[in-house]
Amino acid sequence: MTPHAVKKRIILDVDTGHDDALAIIMAASDKRLELLGITVTAGNQILEKTLKNTLNVTQALGLNVPVYSGMHRPLLQDLATAERIHGESGLDGPVFRPPVRGAEPLHAVQYLIDTVMKEPVGSITLVAVGPLTNIAMAVRLCPDFAHRLSELIIMGGSMTHGNVTPSAEFNIHADPESASIVFSSGAPLVMIGLDCTTRVTLTDALYDRFAGISGPAGYIFSASMAHYIRSCKQYIGESPAMHDPCCVAWAVNPSIFTWKNHFVAIECRGNYTRGRTIVDQTGVSSEKPNAKVVYAIQPEPFWEQLEASLRHFSNVS
Ligand code: RIB
Ligand code: CA
Repeated sequence: MTPHAVKKRIILDVDTGHDDALAIIMAASDKRLELLGITVTAGNQILEKTLKNTLNVTQALGLNVPVYSGMHRPLLQDLATAERIHGESGLDGPVFRPPVRGAEPLHAVQYLIDTVMKEPVGSITLVAVGPLTNIAMAVRLCPDFAHRLSELIIMGGSMTHGNVTPSAEFNIHADPESASIVFSSGAPLVMIGLDCTTRVTLTDALYDRFAGISGPAGYIFSASMAHYIRSCKQYIGESPAMHDPCCVAWAVNPSIFTWKNHFVAIECRGNYTRGRTIVDQTGVSSEKPNAKVVYAIQPEPFWEQLEASLRHFSNVS
């Protein structure tokens, strides 16, 4: 990175489970990013557990990054976790020392609003890799919030199939009303859904490529991904996709992705369709595109970035 290059200032919104943990590692290690703070929502597990997992990961990595506790449930529907995939703790596999530093006293939604309103317009990138409840609350509480963001990079949705129902991807399905608020907010959206993330799945060979990396990030990777591989193979029948890390990869280098501008709406009705991202790929709706929808990723540059982030912590004294 040229010495005068300005770091991209990001806030990461998580529901720390296994792939969220890798996203934190990538966001905290890349010299092109400045990780300002981490906001936590319920999702993969209940908020108490996703918060503890986030604090455990930041402590294990020796990060001096504030963590903020957010919304404990979706706006309307009850919370439906992904316990069968991420386990009872939400991050089964690694063993951590009890966190010394707790969450900051400020609520995550207030932190998001205060930071985006205080910093110059267009200087903050928000990377949201869980249900969009915290983001939706910020949009509703602060009319200028959405338009002041440099980019809102979302792990969620799909142009084709779902992963929690035939129609819906987990983060959107977990809180469709929040997703609808966010997708209609006018924020500069990047939608990184299953069409992209399922192109980078952690095969056994790729696991073996990284599992020997020393240091805290290498440990978190090997211990957490061993569980994640087992549970994904057991319940989904395939290797785990690197959903959340794809969003950090976009923040660092969007050129490895393929995308198009499309209009995206969120279906909040229907027994079989609730939580679906309706992507108008042909413009038939005549609605103005509201998101960069990501179709694909170049796998090798992504894996190289992940490997570099793991090794970053093995070299830190
Ligand atoms: O569908 C994948 C998404 O749901 C990822 O963010 C994963 O962490 C879960 O939250
Ligand atoms: Ca997540």
